[in-house]
Amino acid sequence: MYHVCIQEDPMNSPTLKQIPATLIPGDGIGPEVVEATVKVLDALGSPFSWDIQQAGVAGVASAGDPLPAATLTSIRKNKLALKGPLTTPIGEGFRSSNVRLREEFQLYANVRPAVTIVPGRFEDIDIVLVRENIGGFYVAHEYYIPVGDDPRAVAVSTGINTREACKKIARFAFEYAVKNGRKKITVVHKANILKALTGIFLEAAREIAREYEGKVQMNDMIVDACAMQLVLNPWQFDMLLCTNLFGDILSDQMAGLVGGLGMAPGANIGDDCAIFEAVHGSAPDIAGKGIANPISLLLAAGQMLDHVGHQDLALRLRTAITDTLNKDHVATGDLKGKASTREFTEAIIRRLQAA
Ligand code: NAI
Repeated sequence: MYHVCIQEDPMNSPTLKQIPATLIPGDGIGPEVVEATVKVLDALGSPFSWDIQQAGVAGVASAGDPLPAATLTSIRKNKLALKGPLTTPIGEGFRSSNVRLREEFQLYANVRPAVTIVPGRFEDIDIVLVRENIGGFYVAHEYYIPVGDDPRAVAVSTGINTREACKKIARFAFEYAVKNGRKKITVVHKANILKALTGIFLEAAREIAREYEGKVQMNDMIVDACAMQLVLNPWQFDMLLCTNLFGDILSDQMAGLVGGLGMAPGANIGDDCAIFEAVHGSAPDIAGKGIANPISLLLAAGQMLDHVGHQDLALRLRTAITDTLNKDHVATGDLKGKASTREFTEAIIRRLQAA
């Protein structure tokens, strides 16, 4: 969809043509990790020209709407965005802007890799989780049934998975495997209990898997068993293909295998639009303290560079992160380091400039 364009600058040396993209600073630690990421991208030659827009609580504060029309217009135009985390009120209040964005732009695939960068409890983890991103329980057809004087005596939630959508995400996962040299996909479900909702997902995945026989293996696992196996023997997994809710949960668990939420990026991909973000949320407990780990969003920017065809820049970025952590031994507190967000960012930029 995107092509890397080279244009000549006045000094006659080739420079990158900037790709227009929407930038959403988000809530909580969002502006801190977004600022860090933009600085690092600048050190890589500023491959994107940003249109800064608001969403989440920041959207309510600036435009009275958690998903302002101007933000939607900008993403619709650019078809590409980098997004900080957005706060969603728990239990009540407005609906998640993240979920609304995924629905609005039909970002049906969520790609969440977990790779060991810093040696920790689990070495050599390299798993890619593909999460169905629009359906399942996240359609949020929820309501209460009043009984007697309790207006919320019974809570009901309905999940929806269509065969068409299940086949689409399965095909995406198998195509991803082929393009990225992955050999095995484990389909995660709960088809013993949620026989229809997750049974249709497994059935569709099996159907698509037949087209990839000899190229990509498929097995399946019930979600609870998978959660345990991810701790006992995570090395058995190459890719996981999950329904929406299970993918949300297991990707946080995978982040835990590689150092925590500060290490986990995510790409929300649709047919003609993509939004890149960290797996973590707005972390209100550390917001404003300048100590957030920006690696998740940096790695998400790496996925964004891959997506637009700048694999060379993505590789430089990932190498700089690895070297800053393992050779310079500079890290933020969540990785048992002492650096602030700013100090860590400066260390990465020094690495990029030295390379
Ligand atoms: P959270 O991911 O914001 O934080 C969980 C824990 O991880 C906290 O202790 C936090 O300090 C730590 N943490 C997260 N990111 C970190 C980083 N980069 N560096 C160092 N430590 C980090 O999850 P929580 O607290 O459940 O959610 C807070 C808000 O974020 C909620 O409103 C939730 O809805 C929203 N959220 C938004 C997401 C998004 O925009 N994609 C994803 C997940 C949650």
